[in-house]
Amino acid sequence: MYNEVDLDKIDINSEPPMEEPARQYYFMAKCREWIREFERKNGRCPTAFTQTFGCQMNARDSEKLTGILEKIGYKQAESEEADFVIYNTCTVRENANNKVWGRLGYLNAYKKQHPHMKIALCGCMMQEPEVIEKLRKSYRFVDLVFGTHNIYKFAELLAEALEQEGMFIDVWKGTDQIVEDLPIERKYAFKSGVNIMFGCNNFCSYCIVPYVRGRERSRKPQDILREIERLAADGVVEIMLLGQNVNSYGKTLEEPMTFAQLLSEVEKLEGIERIRFMTSHPKDLSDELIEVMANSNKICNHLHLPLQSGSSRILKKMNRRYDKEQYLALAAKIRKAMPGLALTTDIIVGFPGETEEDFEETMDVVRQVGYDSAFTFIYSKRTGTPAAAMEEQVPEAVVKERFDRLLKEVQRGAAERARALTGSVEKVLAEEINEQDEALVTGRMGNNFIVHFPGTEDLIGKIVNVKLKECRGFYFYGEMTD
Ligand code: SAH
Ligand code: SF4
Ligand code: F3S
Repeated sequence: MYNEVDLDKIDINSEPPMEEPARQYYFMAKCREWIREFERKNGRCPTAFTQTFGCQMNARDSEKLTGILEKIGYKQAESEEADFVIYNTCTVRENANNKVWGRLGYLNAYKKQHPHMKIALCGCMMQEPEVIEKLRKSYRFVDLVFGTHNIYKFAELLAEALEQEGMFIDVWKGTDQIVEDLPIERKYAFKSGVNIMFGCNNFCSYCIVPYVRGRERSRKPQDILREIERLAADGVVEIMLLGQNVNSYGKTLEEPMTFAQLLSEVEKLEGIERIRFMTSHPKDLSDELIEVMANSNKICNHLHLPLQSGSSRILKKMNRRYDKEQYLALAAKIRKAMPGLALTTDIIVGFPGETEEDFEETMDVVRQVGYDSAFTFIYSKRTGTPAAAMEEQVPEAVVKERFDRLLKEVQRGAAERARALTGSVEKVLAEEINEQDEALVTGRMGNNFIVHFPGTEDLIGKIVNVKLKECRGFYFYGEMTD
């Protein structure tokens, strides 16, 4: 198994191999040499810090970065006060970018006092040419910059950055390659994300993801299943299958397979007790998927079904390829097939041209569907997307006022649905000791609600029965029962 490759057995004086992932293991061995030299000089291990700014896919990528850093001998640091810092960036909304620029200012000051440190940037934001321009001009203290398509080459890029001084930039426009079997260091011992596809072909008119993540590519089912088997053998009980639009999984494979078929295969794997997935695009959600979900013992009773807007006119401008009625019909069909299912969503407020009537349509869907939770976003203009060029951008004050109204309605509905669960007994995966109160364990139910209950560390990673005693809006207090 590649994760157990012994770097010391690799001859780093020979030419690097051309094939992947062997090539990356060769460069890991090279970096390992550099680390040993650092240890000899400084009498300590170098430290590394990885920060994720984006979605679950971004977080999974960070686990790959950390896996490689650990493999070559870096010790994980808890903060940016480290010998190597890497920011895995997001650019889905402007405030994601602003966070990175802000933190870079701080890092610059820290590096002035610690000139030996290395700073790397990767992820979605690096795929934007304006960002690279700005870095080249005003952020010369950054050592390494790469994008989403060549993240599998991290070891090779790092070897380069460790050897040389000055800024090294390598950003690709796209790739059709998927490299398997590189090291991964999981954040949690008992749960894990699993990529099933990369990229997106939908081009929703507001969204930058297809431009920075490239075209949709599915991993082969054998590779996915093998990874999940290994995770199960390593103690993982819950997995989350990741893709921008999981419902179109498998369309580009040599032997096409549907997402529902993939789920049925995953269900058969021993040791995995819970299956989640993100994200489902309403336009591609099939009856086959509803049936597989309804009959499954392992798929969680939770579905994230982004609405974006309740107005058919706006949905058309968004290029979402469903209308209000189709969405409502789909939600009703799902609720009928799985009455206990929690439905959650994403909503954008203030898309160009959104009128008060359009917004009321969104409020109407929120009231009719009754979401268990919703992420609400203020529309953020992304350069290069069709929506950025649309006229009638909505004034900020109007957007803010609508956003507040929406949030109130979402919270009211969610609290009402949560309250109805009070008194029931739910299966809960214990995830961590409560941050505020050490006598409590925090866990997650299948429907994704959080519950705090008295317990000890040995419960972490186990699925237990918890009686929900008290509802506090979005979370519960409970007690373990048999
Ligand atoms: N692939 C997923 C979404 C990924 S991005 C899907 O289609 O559902 C996560 C969420 O960010 C989106 O659902 C959308 O609500 C929000 N989002 C994307 N682009 C945005 C923008 N330009 N402004 C505000 N929110 C945006
Ligand atoms: Fe963006 Fe739409 Fe693709 Fe989701 S489906 S990532 S919102 S383009
Ligand atoms: Fe952000 Fe990239 Fe995810 S833009 S939301 S990190 S795919």
